[in-house]
Amino acid sequence: MAMLVAGAAGFIGSHLTDRLLGAGLRVVGVDNLCRGTEANLAAALGDPRFQFLRLDLSEPHEIEKSLAPALDALGEPIDTVWHLAANSDIAAGVADPRVDLRDTFMTTFNLLAFMRVAGCRKMVFASTSAVYGERSDLLTEEIGPLLPISQYGAMKLASEAIVSAACEADLERACICRFPNVVGGRGTHGAIFDFLNKLARDREDLEVLGDGRQRKPYLHVSELVDAMVFIWLHAPEKRALYNIGPEDDGVEVSEIAQGVIDEVGCAARIRYTGRDRGWVGDVPRFAYGVEKLAKLGWRPRRSSAAAVRTSIAELAAERGLTCFKS
Ligand SMILES: NC(=O)c1ccc[n+]([C@@H]2O[C@H](COP(=O)([O-])OP(=O)(O)OC[C@H]3O[C@@H](n4cnc5c(N)ncnc54)[C@H](O)[C@@H]3O)[C@@H](O)[C@H]2O)c1
Repeated sequence: MAMLVAGAAGFIGSHLTDRLLGAGLRVVGVDNLCRGTEANLAAALGDPRFQFLRLDLSEPHEIEKSLAPALDALGEPIDTVWHLAANSDIAAGVADPRVDLRDTFMTTFNLLAFMRVAGCRKMVFASTSAVYGERSDLLTEEIGPLLPISQYGAMKLASEAIVSAACEADLERACICRFPNVVGGRGTHGAIFDFLNKLARDREDLEVLGDGRQRKPYLHVSELVDAMVFIWLHAPEKRALYNIGPEDDGVEVSEIAQGVIDEVGCAARIRYTGRDRGWVGDVPRFAYGVEKLAKLGWRPRRSSAAAVRTSIAELAAERGLTCFKS
């Protein structure tokens, strides 16, 4: 069976690619490398069942020119498109809203148009808790109206809507997976990634955006990929909409900052920039409902705190930053 992973060179896409190859599947990975790297695909590129195409999914002519002929030459149909290509830099979308329109919405629109012509009938779509906006109630799949507070969340919600609409005529099935904060090795963004980069430049002072009291749920990337595959295999719905996340209320940013300092082994002073949120579109606290996924039969093994601890060690080791330890 052959799969297409859009955003394959990114953080989560590369782990998913490794997992699908490990299950004996053929994988065509697509990425324009605007944020992902070929280094993330080091293992996959050595596998004869993997093919990598560097192309921009926001450009229909690039899809026609490169993707269509590559899939024709594959000799077997694509069973499922796993769509993870998107803008993952929320601040970039605040500075220029066209970034999310192009990399999040148009990649979804163009992939769906391509799938219609190519006869690919199944999609797994990487969505986000950011579609819920800022609410104080438990975020479950049934609640609404959904009013995102970031361009990123808005373009993900709009993408969910067109994936759903495509199920009426073109798609046999779509799994819409709403991720929490995902952490782990090969990370390309997020609090742990930022803190490590800052400490690599300055071991005395660590600037933390906000007041440090933001508390969010975290899931290790290995568990996220498990859950995506589980939903793809077992969800019975034509439009399968699932939150994926830990079963606790998360970890505070201040604890993450201290954990990173401890791992690096320096004595940096933490300097909070103040306010209850770090940036435009930051949702400082939310309660994430994962009961629907538990009922389907998947539960995470690790808590948010354990996922963060493991990921700090993985990302620090990737950068060689643990060598600061005496
Ligand atoms: N990491 C998280 O915490 C998190 C949380 C919620 C949702 N998500 C979603 O999961 C998916 C993967 O996120 P990630 O953390 O791995 O981010 P990432 O930036 O590492 O991966 C996204 C990949 O998409 C590629 N891409 C972007 N625009 C493209 C385009 N126009 N054409 C081709 N490729 C393009 C990038 O180069 C990158 O490799 C994204 O859709 C993201 O929105 C991630």
